[in-house]
Amino acid sequence: MIIKQAPDLTENDTTAYALYQNRREFLKLLGGATVLGTVLPSIAWAKSVFSTDETPTDFDDITTYNNFYEFGTAKGDPAINAKSLITSPWSVTVDGECEKPGHYTLEDILKTETIEERIYRMRCVEGWSMVIPWQGFALADLLKRFQPTSKAKFVRFQTLADPKQMPKLKQKVLSWPYTEGLRMDEAMHPLTLIATGLYDKPLLNQNGAPLRLVVPWKYGFKSIKSIVRISFVEQQPISSWERLSAEEYGFYSNVNPNVDHPRWSQYNERRIGEFRKRKTLMFNGYEEQVASLYSGMDLRKYY
Ligand code: MTE
Repeated sequence: MIIKQAPDLTENDTTAYALYQNRREFLKLLGGATVLGTVLPSIAWAKSVFSTDETPTDFDDITTYNNFYEFGTAKGDPAINAKSLITSPWSVTVDGECEKPGHYTLEDILKTETIEERIYRMRCVEGWSMVIPWQGFALADLLKRFQPTSKAKFVRFQTLADPKQMPKLKQKVLSWPYTEGLRMDEAMHPLTLIATGLYDKPLLNQNGAPLRLVVPWKYGFKSIKSIVRISFVEQQPISSWERLSAEEYGFYSNVNPNVDHPRWSQYNERRIGEFRKRKTLMFNGYEEQVASLYSGMDLRKYY
């Protein structure tokens, strides 16, 4: 991890991030330490090979500047309104083209491999970006447990849609339940994550507790929150955003500085906490890992 020099540090960096960094170093030490002959449990996060070295965005920004339209369309709404979301008990329905469909409790889902930490860039279609230290597990490890059949070409995800817990559902800004999808190979790609926490804490409701998808090379809206249903399907699913405006929000939605959104450019981005804009990178900087998924595809057509 690159630690910024003092002159580069903003006030935000020196608060939440410094505490986080110190805690990580401390935990790493503890991981290998022996106290009075007792080996302490190894609780340090192994740094994932997928992580970026960029400085994580401040915890307060990640948890108060959100998109979660079930709780309102203003960035500050989810942090205020998502308190009404009940995340325990929680279950996920798995159906469609797989050998092991069923209703799985959250506890069962969490038995998926070891939770690991990955620091990922997130680029929103609206032109801002963040760097988020997620904890979670590879989606592939979860999906394999359900034994998808050869007919499973895509995976569709749905968010809870309960008007009692989500008062803004009655504003029909999108078609509910919030729906997203990935092609099977995208879903099985090792970068694709199910996040259960960030900054060493369980996910807050506004960030999509208790389970949310993270697909770092795609625009943020593909990263669906508070998942209650996973379906293996033959046909390409229609996402809520595609249903609203297909020419603005395509199924693939790979971060691509060369393909403008019809109403604005995607060339630059503003990293939350910074003033100067950055050039947006192809596939959000994950080109080396994911470009081969799209070889031979016209990325202007399949945006
Ligand atoms: N998931 C649901 N269920 N509802 C939403 O409105 N918004 C999406 C995505 N997942 C959204 C969602 C959009 S537009 C973005 S940019 C990211 O969540 C934002 O994630 P964050 O608030 O954790 O930064």
